[in-house]
Amino acid sequence: MPNIKKELASFGARFNSDIVALFQNITTPEGRVSRAMKYSVSNGGKRLRPFLVCQCAALFGVDYTKAFMAAASLEMLHTYSLIHDDLPAMDNDDLRRGKPTCHKAFDEATAILAGDGLLTLAFEILADSDYADEVKIRLIKLMAQNAGAFEGMVAGQMLDLYASSLTSCDEVENVITRIEKMKTGCLLLYACQAGAIIGGANKLQFEALSRYARKIGQAFQIADDILDVEGNQAKVGKTLKKDSVQGKMTFVSCYGLETAKKMAQELVRQAKDELVVFGGKAETLKALADFIINREY
Ligand code: IPE
Ligand code: IPE
Ligand code: MG
Ligand code: MG
Ligand code: MG
Repeated sequence: MPNIKKELASFGARFNSDIVALFQNITTPEGRVSRAMKYSVSNGGKRLRPFLVCQCAALFGVDYTKAFMAAASLEMLHTYSLIHDDLPAMDNDDLRRGKPTCHKAFDEATAILAGDGLLTLAFEILADSDYADEVKIRLIKLMAQNAGAFEGMVAGQMLDLYASSLTSCDEVENVITRIEKMKTGCLLLYACQAGAIIGGANKLQFEALSRYARKIGQAFQIADDILDVEGNQAKVGKTLKKDSVQGKMTFVSCYGLETAKKMAQELVRQAKDELVVFGGKAETLKALADFIINREY
């Protein structure tokens, strides 16, 4: 069994220094926005999405160096989604990755611009990368779709805000699954698909990784909702109990803690089954699926 916590930590250390190196130190007044971007990107985090990109690419013999640009681009986009998620108009959070949120460390307008800047930079570094043109175009299109406002992360964030006003549990059940799928699942799906594309996966392999990603994506958000209720704030690095205070509809508020935990376990079991086509090469991805629901942060 791979020691997934150790693997994630050593990946995180390497990835952190590589992604920080992509930012310049700009001392002009407008450099405030790039300092805010760097602050949020270098500010910890599990680096789960870039790890997934690299691990999925590794199934096909692609090394870290080659997978890095796609991984860094996705982490920038994810970080933008966190900065905006924390804004007063959204979840109004003070704490992120164990440190003051971007709008607390800087100010609200700078945080909005830092998010805009990261989203834009994510596409710029992908367009500038060394992947073959057809690989780049597929990555850019898929990342835009999964991050976007139709059925992507932005759509999920919109639905998340709308759902706070729902009262009927029947409607909630359907809405919750869609929220989780879009706001969280889409970027995890893209992470695995990006690794598969860089690795030159065939259709069968691409679809197996996509099914794995959808299942861990749902389990990941259930775990996030559970941690909000019963996590340890010092370990999680975010303000807890926010979902209930803000009347958010989550798996936990809808089904209760015990059922939510069982659902997450079942999803992880199914996710691991999807990896059978990769045989012994997918042990780390299997261990990662377990980590997603057993994590304390
Ligand atoms: C938090 O994502 C936002 C959700 C989609 C629930 P992570 O839990 O992966 O956050 P970091 O990157 O580790 O800080
Ligand atoms: C946010 O979900 C998902 C995105 C940022 C797209 P949450 O609002 O539950 O994430 P946390 O708990 O603040 O990290
Ligand atoms: Mg939110
Ligand atoms: Mg939030
Ligand atoms: Mg949450």
